[in-house]
Amino acid sequence: MHIRPLGLEDVPAYLSLRTSLWPGGGADREEVEGLLSRSDQAAFVAEEAGALVGFVEVALRPYAEGCTTSPVGYLEGWYVAPAWRGQGIGRLLVEAAEDWARARGCREMASDAEPGNLLGQEAHRRLGYQEVERLICFRKDL
Ligand SMILES: CC(C)(COP(=O)(O)OP(=O)(O)OC[C@H]1O[C@@H](n2cnc3c(N)ncnc32)[C@H](O)[C@@H]1OP(=O)(O)O)[C@@H](O)C(=O)NCCC(=O)NCCS
Repeated sequence: MHIRPLGLEDVPAYLSLRTSLWPGGGADREEVEGLLSRSDQAAFVAEEAGALVGFVEVALRPYAEGCTTSPVGYLEGWYVAPAWRGQGIGRLLVEAAEDWARARGCREMASDAEPGNLLGQEAHRRLGYQEVERLICFRKDL
């Protein structure tokens, strides 16, 4: 198992893996190109025998709920393919994201999980994340 930054050569496989987490918008190539080119966001992948089996996306945000410092490292996406779960890969990915944020001066990390995603919530807690707030989200056409 190898954890490393996302590379340009990974893009086709990465788009497919990302779609497993976000069926609606995971294949957005522009977003992935941003991960490769922007200094305020990054992605790390877990590679096993030449195949991508997990990823984490991390960004710098000026503010995150419950945090008192700025910028904050934010876990924007976190996924391990079902067959590879429960072996510590998710933890290694988050540690890579935390190292990335720490190297950019962050003193806090933040993240979110949907209310029904109890597995995602528990995995966050196991990695030291504390629940700070529950939000209701709104939208409106303009
Ligand atoms: C969340 C996810 C990325 C974790 O990946 P993973 O490789 O299984 O994670 P790890 O094996 O490193 O486990 C991380 C911690 O969560 C715990 N954990 C993992 N699966 C668990 C489960 N089914 N029940 C309870 N705890 C669990 C582990 O015990 C570990 O804690 P520990 O090191 O103290 O034992 C993976 O389950 C996933 O892709 N889920 C679907 C997408 C998702 O929900 N992403 C998070 C959005 S909030």
